[in-house]
Amino acid sequence: MVSAAARRRSQFIDAVIDGYAAAHSTPPDAGQLDLQRITRAKTGRAAGMQIGDDQAVLMEMLVRAMGATRAVEIGTFTGYSALAVARGLGPGGHLLCCDVSKEWTSIARKAWQEAGIAERIELRIGPALQTLRSLPPGEQFDFAFIDADKTGYARYYEEVLTRLRPGGLMLLDNMLQGGHVTGDLAGGKDVAAIRSLNETIAADPRVKVVLIPIGDGVSFVQKLGRTADPAASVK
Ligand SMILES: C[S@@+](CC[C@H](N)C(=O)[O-])C[C@H]1O[C@@H](n2cnc3c(N)ncnc32)[C@H](O)[C@@H]1O
Repeated sequence: MVSAAARRRSQFIDAVIDGYAAAHSTPPDAGQLDLQRITRAKTGRAAGMQIGDDQAVLMEMLVRAMGATRAVEIGTFTGYSALAVARGLGPGGHLLCCDVSKEWTSIARKAWQEAGIAERIELRIGPALQTLRSLPPGEQFDFAFIDADKTGYARYYEEVLTRLRPGGLMLLDNMLQGGHVTGDLAGGKDVAAIRSLNETIAADPRVKVVLIPIGDGVSFVQKLGRTADPAASVK
């Protein structure tokens, strides 16, 4: 069994602190451990794409605390992050999952069935940008998680932001690119794309953002704006 500390993977935190924090956080349950095991067995090194246990607990709690009922995920893989979001949504919630891989998401479908949350999840196979652009104009989200091809992030950010309700949250994964975003011009096109998006988001008057060094860096973006109830508006 992989230890909690090994799965936590906060790359930028001292290993001792990281281990202590992991040991004092809610561990994955049997279903989540099973999904991690199956993912490693069936996808090999690609299993490293799953979010860490700490991030999964955090996302589940956030979604629940917000009272979110409608969510979207771009980049589902074998369904570990979606499982966390769907749990946070609770019964009656709806999570739209976008991915291009039938093979990887077939593992996800099975895990969601076993966890009893499959009816909360709609999976669409195809390029995420196409899926987002095909949604009805009125479709809005409370919560969004972006974790797919890095060069597509800037377009996902714009598409999702227009559909996020004021006060809604969008989380973007891998925003520190192993630390390479801080380098000069080093790094490939993924690093360049994420560095540029970090600049865009930090200067975007439509949102508040905090980039937290959990995992490979997660940006928490909250949409500002007016709501029908003035007390709920976000400035
Ligand atoms: C980092 S993994 C997602 C990991 C997942 N969030 C988890 O925690 O288990 C990225 C996923 O994005 C998917 N992907 C890549 N390009 C895509 C695209 N253009 N549209 C939709 N999904 C895409 C890949 O098939 C892969 O499953």
